[in-house]
Amino acid sequence: MWNKTSGLNQFYNDRGNEDGIPVIFIHGFPFDSSTWENQVVALPSNFRPVVYDVRGHGQSEVGDIPYSLEFLVDDLFALIENLELQQPILCGLSMGGYIALRAYEKWPGLFKALILCDTRAEGDSNTAKINRAHAIKTIWNGDIKKYAEDSVKNLFWSENILSKIPEIVQIKSIIEKTSPDALCAALMALAARTDSTEILTGINIPTLIIVGEHDKITPPIAAEFLHENINGSELVIIKKAGHLSNLENPEEFNKALLHFLENMQ
Ligand code: MLT
Repeated sequence: MWNKTSGLNQFYNDRGNEDGIPVIFIHGFPFDSSTWENQVVALPSNFRPVVYDVRGHGQSEVGDIPYSLEFLVDDLFALIENLELQQPILCGLSMGGYIALRAYEKWPGLFKALILCDTRAEGDSNTAKINRAHAIKTIWNGDIKKYAEDSVKNLFWSENILSKIPEIVQIKSIIEKTSPDALCAALMALAARTDSTEILTGINIPTLIIVGEHDKITPPIAAEFLHENINGSELVIIKKAGHLSNLENPEEFNKALLHFLENMQ
């Protein structure tokens, strides 16, 4: 299905019971909505899972470049408006978490709960900005395969690189299919995103924080910071998982997700 209200064709899939509580899953960079499949099929029937491809990712159009995180947040809002979702729960992984936090900052009354997975509130450090510049050069040089290969090494827990072959093939293939223009535009948007640390103490809706114990990109210390600053939040550390905790250990991830969803109502 396509959402056109944000000014470009944005792919989404609205699944489940129309009267259920909406849960919008927001994928990380540079993935797509298919990475949430294990979670979508696990949700009980009183929930309404909605997945979508962030602009430039998956099947969504690239649209105008450059990007800003603000545009990605506005696209989310357009989807919520278009589907007339009331009090959705936002579940974002990494970039999806940056989008969720900024969306909460812009419209604090709009959401029922937050699920922040393998993400952080702080903006990029100088080292992270420089690494993004290196990544852009690799992509400019036409080395998407190298970029995908390097990314996978950082994304997955080292032991999963040898055992989670279908997941690795899935992620590499998604990255290799992403438009180089969109990759570079998103990298610049991530480098320039705003810092959300100041809003954390004001978050007053149920919040679950999830992180893979071996996440190198947004490590457990970043999740602990979220947990310490968001009043009443719950923190779950997923064993045997790196940055892609929902893909690397879906059983433990889903246990945490379902327990939170069933108990926050
Ligand atoms: C992601 O998974 O969305 C990215 O690792 C986020 C980032 O690069 O900051």
